[in-house]
Amino acid sequence: MSVALPTSNAFVPFAPTPRERRPSLPLRLWLLSRNPIEVWTRAHYEEPILPEISPLGRITFVSEPTAIKRVFVDNAENYPKDPLQMRILRPGLGEGLLTASGDVWKRTRRTLAPLFTPRRTALASGAMRDCAEARVDRWLKRRPGAILDVAREMTGVTFDILSATLFSNAISADYAGFEKAMTRYIESVGRVDPLDIIGAPTWIPRIGRFAARPSLAFFGKAVERLVAERHALLAKGDKAPDDILTALLKASDPETGIGLTDAEVAANIITFIAAGHETTARGLAWTLHLLAQAPDIRARAEKEAAAASDDPAEWLDELPLIRACIEESMRLFPPVPLMSRGAREDDRLGAITIPAKSLIVVAPWIVHRHRKLWKAPDAFMPERFMPGAREEIDRFAYLPFGSGPRICIGARFAMMEAMIVLTTILRRVRLDAAHPVQPKPVLRITLRPEGGLPMAVRPL
Ligand code: HEM
Repeated sequence: MSVALPTSNAFVPFAPTPRERRPSLPLRLWLLSRNPIEVWTRAHYEEPILPEISPLGRITFVSEPTAIKRVFVDNAENYPKDPLQMRILRPGLGEGLLTASGDVWKRTRRTLAPLFTPRRTALASGAMRDCAEARVDRWLKRRPGAILDVAREMTGVTFDILSATLFSNAISADYAGFEKAMTRYIESVGRVDPLDIIGAPTWIPRIGRFAARPSLAFFGKAVERLVAERHALLAKGDKAPDDILTALLKASDPETGIGLTDAEVAANIITFIAAGHETTARGLAWTLHLLAQAPDIRARAEKEAAAASDDPAEWLDELPLIRACIEESMRLFPPVPLMSRGAREDDRLGAITIPAKSLIVVAPWIVHRHRKLWKAPDAFMPERFMPGAREEIDRFAYLPFGSGPRICIGARFAMMEAMIVLTTILRRVRLDAAHPVQPKPVLRITLRPEGGLPMAVRPL
């Protein structure tokens, strides 16, 4: 699958050059803990399926769309989330939706699905626009040309939106605490620990997990307070807000009638705070970086934004170029750059045998830049996602939100939010890179610009 597109003037953002050969084990361990995308070789971007032997055993990188479909959809039962991922994420996220498995996962997903229907998501559009407008108002109080860290600003606005829409503002006052605790948590557990790579026993303490303890203590206290306040409200018989907190506390599985345990409620509060804003923030920040480097495209996007209707719920479907810019940005800089699974039983993917208990990696960072799947894979070309061209893209060659039963529950919410925040920005201000050095993408669970994204803001 490749689409004939003009490439001559397209902007090519900075990305680590793929290595010619696999690095030695010590260098590999060091790179994996610093920035795993720097470990990958040319073969990763050229081979459809690439098996490797590592100290952890067999790891297979799967980048061929039919094989990806088999892992995520056709034979998904055989590929649950793997034990390494669970070991890294569960200390913070417990049995929340992202990290739960089996019946707990099924029950939680069924319970929360009604909060993410297209109708419910559309109801959040007004609050999304209010939060975006308030953020731009704050920028406009500064002198023209003032420098902002756009990565941080996007974390701020997506947290405001999450708090307003899913938590009825119950977490707003804690923003500074959450930001600090979340950054610390991602910096610590988000680094691959060399002890995990070499398969050291779990009783040997990992530095990262030790460093994450203050964040976990903060999350624990914050959740306790949120749950106590909402319980008190529900007990008084007051009309409780129709949000995720009430849904979790009053949960009953539509099929079995069973509710969630206290530990599951707490785990889901943290999961939705973590998964519900950091990813969208990354997607938006990278899009603003790319648009600043492609002024022609930005000018067209500004025009489209200026002509948008008054109803932000409609923007998702009526602004094709802005949507294409976000989708192309998430191709080049997928907010979740890597997904992993463990094979339960032996299987075959194409000509490759997958042994039971081996690890499967589907890395959107690799798949989205794969030489066999994309023309000019490293160039920023939103045209690929414009109506007419987009239909040519294989569903399993583009997976910013994953696929199959574990697909992102917030995908529509996130797309609507990204459209509304970006359109609001494009209508009112222009952001330009504050210095010429291009940001380096670093993988820490999500894909962050190293050192932030300093940009100058000017009114339009
Ligand atoms: C641009 C923004 C986002 C991106 C790129 C993204 C990406 C993803 C991906 C790739 C997965 C699947 C992981 C896997 O299969 O291993 C996922 C799962 C999940 N996401 Fe998102 N996400 C985004 C926004 C959101 C938002 C806004 C929410 C909540 C409000 C959310 C909540 C979740 C949850 C709870 C799961 C676990 C679903 C399950 O396992 O059933 N995400 N996300």
